[in-house]
Amino acid sequence: MLQDSYSSGQHLLGLLNDILDLAKIESGKLEVHSEPFNLPVLVEEVKPIAEAYPRKPNVELVWPDLSELPEVLVDPSRLKQVLLNLLSNALKFTKEGTVGVQVERHPGYITLLVVDTGIGVSLEAQTRLFQKFAQADGGHSREFGGTGLGLVICKHLMEMMGGTISLSSEGLGLGSTLRITMPIA
Ligand SMILES: Nc1ncnc2c1ncn2[C@@H]1O[C@H](COP(=O)(O)OP(=O)(O)OP(=O)(O)O)[C@@H](O)[C@H]1O
Ligand SMILES: [Mg+2]
Repeated sequence: MLQDSYSSGQHLLGLLNDILDLAKIESGKLEVHSEPFNLPVLVEEVKPIAEAYPRKPNVELVWPDLSELPEVLVDPSRLKQVLLNLLSNALKFTKEGTVGVQVERHPGYITLLVVDTGIGVSLEAQTRLFQKFAQADGGHSREFGGTGLGLVICKHLMEMMGGTISLSSEGLGLGSTLRITMPIA
């Protein structure tokens, strides 16, 4: 019972924070404070939190080797929020296989990818998931829970940090890849 009331509390807190973030973003009051930051440090902070998220027994979390990366220009706590959001989605929508974080270095920017082997997203749904309350299938909210605010908040935050976010999936049942880019400091 204690565990149940703790999880319910956490769930409500998450929901409340999402609603407050979105209200702040929409009223133009949310500020991001970008600074040069070390990505490996940030990923190390995210790891234990993501490892503790609920996931199916046959799902493995795979972390990248992040040595020798340049610093990125981000608001560390907001980037952490985005990464955790993407990881919680990936873990929620993956029944078996892997959820992996990958990194790519490009001229002037770094891409972080969250790649999963989960239920994937149809081409039709891919075009609308970055809108408020959008979920691929209305039925999802029942099977998987959630409100449809995570990705729209991530999109605003990434753009405020001078970055981007995009989703790609070969289709239903074929896994999803979420990509975020951020400037090198
Ligand atoms: N990794 C993923 N695999 C499959 N579908 C995804 C994935 N990430 C997001 N989606 C789809 O995009 C929708 C919107 O995601 P978003 O994070 O905005 O909302 P949510 O997870 O449903 O709810 P919330 O984040 O508010 O708790 C999801 O409901 C799901 O349909
Ligand atoms: Mg979500």
